Amino acid sequence: MKGVLLSGGTGSRLRPITHTGPKQLVPVANKPVLEYAIEDFKTAGITEIGVILGHKGREEIQELLGDGSDYDVDITYIVQGNPLGLAHAAGCAKDFVGDDDFVMYLGDNILKEGITDLVESFESGDYEAGIALQEVDNPQQFGIADLDDDGNVTQLIEKPDDPPTNFALIGMYVFSPKVFDAIETLEPSWRGELEITDAIQTLLEDGNAIDSHVVEGWWKDTGKPEDILHANHLVLEDLEKSVEGTIEEGAEVSGRIELPESSTIEAGAVIRGPVSIAENTTIESDTYVGPYTSIGADCVVANTHIENSVVIGESDITTSGKIVDSLIGRGAQIGSADELLPEGRRLVVGENSNLKL
Ligand code: DAU
Repeated sequence: MKGVLLSGGTGSRLRPITHTGPKQLVPVANKPVLEYAIEDFKTAGITEIGVILGHKGREEIQELLGDGSDYDVDITYIVQGNPLGLAHAAGCAKDFVGDDDFVMYLGDNILKEGITDLVESFESGDYEAGIALQEVDNPQQFGIADLDDDGNVTQLIEKPDDPPTNFALIGMYVFSPKVFDAIETLEPSWRGELEITDAIQTLLEDGNAIDSHVVEGWWKDTGKPEDILHANHLVLEDLEKSVEGTIEEGAEVSGRIELPESSTIEAGAVIRGPVSIAENTTIESDTYVGPYTSIGADCVVANTHIENSVVIGESDITTSGKIVDSLIGRGAQIGSADELLPEGRRLVVGENSNLKL
């Protein structure tokens, strides 16, 4: 069994965060989303991984993952270029996959339970495809499966206007090489993409057995800013306490926190976990960092109240205003205008930013 990890696409729904890099490298609990997928592959015993690259952020992805040796896996890079659809991306991996079965994992998805059950379920029968499903509240935004009374898949439709069920295809699939024949017969969908959902529907119509597997633990497609915050919340729910950095006397820390050796919480700061703090970051006095917050590397946070937020890194934040439910991009500087005249907000805001003042 091989792995194919999709890291192309445009990341348009995550702008402006993705103006400068690929969405798969946005950190959740201070770890790039893509690393969760690599770990899931490894746990499922899959160590030969083809990483599909688009145009955006190729160098950054290769710099992070390298040849895979840091993760004990073997990585081959495959360039897709333009994002012509998930089935097109899978098709680019045909030579890499050869005669093996493979798991295709969408690089912006995170799954609590990993992919081991999905792989075992596929291997337990004579299937040409295995899909993972979960019920969602907004089925129009996903690929949707219709099932008969015995739970067998009867139809798959990509982002239907009138969904027959709430069972969404989540971003992990298992395929035999037969999927490549199905991909070759596809026409672009209404959104101009070759859809993997249509490829599985073709396999189904040709009489092939499709395994479906309802996933119990949480799953998150991190395509939008609110999804990143939600994924951060879900991952921090399971955060294990790890304090190697300095907590000065007079700082008040409760709950589970992660603090690496090079980071400091100064006297007078209040931290309520779960909170993840990355390397080389200082939380100064008179600062409150509330639950479900991740502060990235090389930050200084002072005289600020921040909660349920993700600060990606290299930021200085000093403001009397409360920061809640926020995603703050790399290098963002946030200050206070309190002492400045004339009174008012002073903003340097990137294209496609989203502010509520
Ligand atoms: O998240 C689950 C959903 O993912 C499924 O329910 C849908 O059936 C499936 O089509 C897909 O929908 P999205 O519209 O959310 O897919 P998105 O365009 O966000 O792409 C998913 C990942 O694949 C993302 O990491 C970017 C990468 N990608 C995407 C395209 C279109 C590529 O590598 N190449 C591509 O051509």
